[in-house]
Amino acid sequence: MAQRDSKVPKDAVHHPLFARFYAKMSVSADLKGGIAAYRAELLEGLSGRVIEIGAGNGLNFAHYPATVSEVVALEPERTLRNLAAEAALRAEVPVDVVPGAAEAMPVKSEGFDAAVASLVLCTVRDLPRALSEIRRVLRPGGELRFFEHGIAEGRGLATTQRVLDRTVWPLLFGGCHTARDTVAAIEEAGFELGAHRRFRVPKGGPQLPTSPCVLGVARRPQDTDR
Ligand SMILES: C[S@@+](CC[C@H](N)C(=O)[O-])C[C@H]1O[C@@H](n2cnc3c(N)ncnc32)[C@H](O)[C@@H]1O
Repeated sequence: MAQRDSKVPKDAVHHPLFARFYAKMSVSADLKGGIAAYRAELLEGLSGRVIEIGAGNGLNFAHYPATVSEVVALEPERTLRNLAAEAALRAEVPVDVVPGAAEAMPVKSEGFDAAVASLVLCTVRDLPRALSEIRRVLRPGGELRFFEHGIAEGRGLATTQRVLDRTVWPLLFGGCHTARDTVAAIEEAGFELGAHRRFRVPKGGPQLPTSPCVLGVARRPQDTDR
């Protein structure tokens, strides 16, 4: 019996406490904190085949427009993946929820018109590798839509963020980092940065380590190899 159990593949991410916390907190943040509106803005106008990285409990699914033919939603954490599978049943576009981490996506190259990353590039273990994988699975000209929190523009908060990242924050919040410069990393990974805007969440509320946010689009260039 013990032998059979040991053959069950381990999940790439194992954060059961964080998963339960996030499942509750994220629903409330969507409804009361205005996050649902950012999700709708993030996904507006998408079409074709889409891959979503680290889909969590599937809160984006309700916002995909009908022009999307299929969503492959990767989620490495089991509790959140099960919740995402339930959310997929309620979605108006076909959503296939599958295990998988951003750093080694179980999908073929150039198979997607768009990739979606919301509140996840802060958490992936290896950001350059994850972005390189996103680039690999997008067709040339395909777009990366991102909605992420990251490094503050002001030095005071940025210093606090760096200290938190080296100490308690990743331990408390499922591997999350607050001081990543996601936009710079996207450009360094060879994407063409498109329209994006920076804002604070919660709007008009207290300044949190996760308040500085950016929402936008970047493209895999048309004429390059991986
Ligand atoms: C803060 S939650 C965001 C979930 C969802 N994207 C959303 O917008 O609500 C971070 C998610 O990233 C997932 N995650 C952690 N490490 C990952 C990795 N290496 N690759 C892909 N997803 C990862 C977590 O399991 C979790 O679902």
